Amino acid sequence: MAHQRAAAMLAVLGVIASIFAAGTALWPVSAGVCYGVHGDRLPSAAEVVQLYKSKGILNMRIYQPDVQTLLALKGSKINVLMGVADEDVPRLAASTSAAADWVKVNIQPYLPGVLFQYIAVGNEITGAATQNIAPAIKNLNAVLSATGLDDIQVSTAVRMDVLSSSSPPSSSTFKDGNIKDVLAVLNSTYATGITAPLLVNVYPYFAYTGDTKNIDLNFALFQPSSTVIRDNGLNYTNLFDAMVDDLYAALSRENLVVPVVVSESGWPSYGGVGASVTNAQTYNQNLINHIRNGTPKRPYWLETYVFAMFNENQKTGAETGAETEKHFGLFNPDKSPVYPIKFRMIHVCKGCGFQ
Ligand SMILES: *[C@@H]1O[C@H](CO)[C@@H](O)[C@H](O)[C@H]1NC(C)=O
Ligand SMILES: *[C@@H]1O[C@H](CO)[C@@H](O)[C@H](O)[C@H]1NC(C)=O
Repeated sequence: MAHQRAAAMLAVLGVIASIFAAGTALWPVSAGVCYGVHGDRLPSAAEVVQLYKSKGILNMRIYQPDVQTLLALKGSKINVLMGVADEDVPRLAASTSAAADWVKVNIQPYLPGVLFQYIAVGNEITGAATQNIAPAIKNLNAVLSATGLDDIQVSTAVRMDVLSSSSPPSSSTFKDGNIKDVLAVLNSTYATGITAPLLVNVYPYFAYTGDTKNIDLNFALFQPSSTVIRDNGLNYTNLFDAMVDDLYAALSRENLVVPVVVSESGWPSYGGVGASVTNAQTYNQNLINHIRNGTPKRPYWLETYVFAMFNENQKTGAETGAETEKHFGLFNPDKSPVYPIKFRMIHVCKGCGFQ
């Protein structure tokens, strides 16, 4: 992970170095998959890492540090997006020494060997607690920088409801001050050579179930549909692109160069409106195939994590109370596929930055 240093060199050595650095920054990636653990009889962490590797899944999101998982990831060449548990965020916001302890316990013992790519300070934190996110990111950035680990990008994972309005995409705006503080911190990392992305959980499924009258199922599934959203010369033929570009439009409205990483997206195979094995397979396979071309506003590789690796029978569906919450998995706990799915590896120019 030498791109940071390479970027510094660039400034000095100019164009020739630029070509060299771009060449060395090619980085194998695939769609990632979220490894949630709220299920009975899930395989051991070592088996899970093996399953990722055997399916060609090169990127993993975990929601908080876990010793067994991190040990299993050592040497796996899997890129890791690791969460800070929501309940730890106030502590990390309050002091750099708490942030330093967190890094010492959860990052440093696994280096080298674990490819930490991002730290997500909380997942879908809402309400007053959102005020802790920006300070926690700042403290972690300070610690990582002081320990020479500033290749690890720190962000937070949010829901689409950080936007107040969003149709058509070009009309969208961010809601409140706390998310804007977070975005200002992310935007300031532009100076380091790689701008930390905003991590966003993007679910056309929930948009669809919230308005089945007006949203065509095929438009939500990336299937041919009579729906096209036309917006300032751009044409949206699927809901996912429109949702991601809602974010990009709101970011450019604020003059921010922060990229978007889709930290969750998926479709349930059972349990409610629109939930079926066929629809889940269609959505997830189309998603995996689609993201290499990005969105109309950003037509290049869009880093995306499918939710989720396993069906998780302990998920309570706190938000919706829905049975569907337990059926987002690509695999059953016994590692058998819920439906066939194919991942593909591509090489991206990491560190080429925001375009
Ligand atoms: C969008 O669709 C319109 C109408 O079909 C077409 O004229 C235009 O070129 C399309 N824009 C893009 C960027 O494809
Ligand atoms: C975001 O960062 C870019 C690049 O440094 C800068 O040009 C822009 O003014 C920043 N945006 C804000 C709102 O500070």
